[in-house]
Amino acid sequence: MLVSGGGTNLQALIDAQKSGIINHGEIVLCISSNPQAYALERAKNAGIETAVVSKKQSGSQQAFEQAIKDILTEKSIDLIVLAGFMCILSADFTSDYPERIINVHPSLIPSFCGKGFYGLFVHEAALEYGVKVTGATVHFVNEIPDGGRIIMQKAVAIEEGDTPEILQKRVMEQAEWQILPQSVELVSAQLLNERNGK
Ligand code: GAR
Repeated sequence: MLVSGGGTNLQALIDAQKSGIINHGEIVLCISSNPQAYALERAKNAGIETAVVSKKQSGSQQAFEQAIKDILTEKSIDLIVLAGFMCILSADFTSDYPERIINVHPSLIPSFCGKGFYGLFVHEAALEYGVKVTGATVHFVNEIPDGGRIIMQKAVAIEEGDTPEILQKRVMEQAEWQILPQSVELVSAQLLNERNGK
């Protein structure tokens, strides 16, 4: 799990593992780009090993990504989940993990996505445009920000009087926290089947 903030998506994954929704994979490591991220507490409370790799302290994008890669290799990680990870990964990184990185994005891609569209900014943009339906997308990560193959999407209605914060919460509750665990289970099961030659 790669995280940067509050970690509600990480919590949804932890809960899904506990309840058996995720049973073809195991959450073994949580790397945060932000030492203050509450996601780190959530991981620790669930007994998941944590690490912090800060972009600032790494000094460059290349050093930042190499530090993450080193940990992933050391822990023999098969599947990387960006669960509220607010850094863009370069082609150098993503090409090492083809269809092995999953991201959750809080809109219906291809709307309101790409560089600069993250967190509350996405919901601000949707409200400003005036769309009546938004949602969330889980997709594989490639060299194009929010451009990889879509795994699942779920639509969420926009309501009169919505603020970015209210909309963010509805999109999380009605879409992200459901389709991210479901997608992780789907991809984990596929990976295991491939490995077992099925
Ligand atoms: C979530 O809404 C997630 O979809 C979004 O940031 C929030 C993180 O919340 N991610 C992006 O915008 C990535 N482009 P969380 O830390 O509580 O899971």
